[in-house]
Amino acid sequence: MTKMRIDGKEISNANVFEIIAEHFPDIIHSVDGVGNIVFTNRKAESLLGYSQDELLSMNIRQIYADEILDKVEEGFNQLKRKGEKTIIESTLKDRDGNRIPVEIRSFGIYDDDGKFLRTFSIIRDIREIKELQNTLIHAGRLAAIGEMASGIAHDIKNPLNVLFLTSELAMLALNEMAEPKSESMEKLKKSLKGMEKALQMIEKLSEHLSNFSRGVAERYEVVDLHSIIADSLFIAQNKIKMCAVTTQNKVEKGHYFTKGAPNQLKQVFVNLITNACDAMAETKGRSLTLSISPFKRDGMGYWKCDVSDTGIGIPQDALESVFQSFFTTKEKGKGTGLGLSISRGIIKNHEGDIEVHSEQGKGTTFSVYLPRAEYQKACRQSPQGHG
Ligand SMILES: Nc1ncnc2c1ncn2[C@@H]1O[C@H](COP(=O)(O)OP(=O)(O)OP(=O)(O)O)[C@@H](O)[C@H]1O
Ligand SMILES: [Mg+2]
Repeated sequence: MTKMRIDGKEISNANVFEIIAEHFPDIIHSVDGVGNIVFTNRKAESLLGYSQDELLSMNIRQIYADEILDKVEEGFNQLKRKGEKTIIESTLKDRDGNRIPVEIRSFGIYDDDGKFLRTFSIIRDIREIKELQNTLIHAGRLAAIGEMASGIAHDIKNPLNVLFLTSELAMLALNEMAEPKSESMEKLKKSLKGMEKALQMIEKLSEHLSNFSRGVAERYEVVDLHSIIADSLFIAQNKIKMCAVTTQNKVEKGHYFTKGAPNQLKQVFVNLITNACDAMAETKGRSLTLSISPFKRDGMGYWKCDVSDTGIGIPQDALESVFQSFFTTKEKGKGTGLGLSISRGIIKNHEGDIEVHSEQGKGTTFSVYLPRAEYQKACRQSPQGHG
């Protein structure tokens, strides 16, 4: 048998296999003809919560979830008969009864007379993959809802126009009615005006909805960040109300211009506002502040747009993770963990940056840096510019 040396010691191939198996990132185990575990590695201990000695006194049926034992039996028998390699998804059960989704690759080993000896299996923990799949399904569902919403917004237009016209005609008819005007006629007029206002609100909402979902292939234009932030607050108004958040918008009109895709920028601020509301859902003070100040870096002028909340804050060691795709602390169905990673992508495309500062228990500020429009222009005209 070939020998190799580790730290001066001679090691046989059989030992090499043991060392690899011991440090392998997946469970490796072997079971005999009745399902008793006869070999297992370190990963099995850490994943299942049993010691190696305990595992070696257990039967394979004890580490699988009770609800799939029929299938385990069937698979085991098949493996004993055919010995072919099988790859299946299954569910293990750890010491505390927690279910662990896994992918199993198994094969049978036989003696020279074809008599079954053992099975060997490599078992991979696929919890993260499953989680990712669920998140993707959720993200896909959200995208579909977005598309549906923009369709509904479009379809609302026709009946909305009919209602506008009808209320206008009713108002005209009322105005043309002979004197003297009665009290009930005045009441009717007031109601019609109220109805018109409500209709305008629906029109504005559906406009926002269809613009918002059309954001992807948008052209860049010079925009006033005041209108981006005002529109974002408008889109998120329900969330703000639901979480009983007080907003302070310090951004004035007509000062803060940048060149960008308005709906993409709104998407960024809507996510920041929504996140802030979520972070304040269970805190006492619920205050959201939006402000903009000038900022210079490497001779370039930026607008620093701050979205600050008085929410639960973010632990220091999670500050960088919040920008990673699929990082979320929200319960299933409430967050995909894509908001900030998409936002960072959008802001980078605008040659800007996004940063976070947070103090646990006090609150969080997300700062979005966007190039000032006059600097973007100057940059494009200069041959060295990167605009
Ligand atoms: N203002 C905030 N205060 C505290 N934690 C925050 C704040 N903003 C973001 N986070 C943390 O960062 C995580 C990621 O945010 P992100 O917007 O990327 O995803 P999400 O809000 O969880 O889901 P969605 O894809 O629906 O936006 C949040 O789940 C939360 O833990
Ligand atoms: Mg979010």
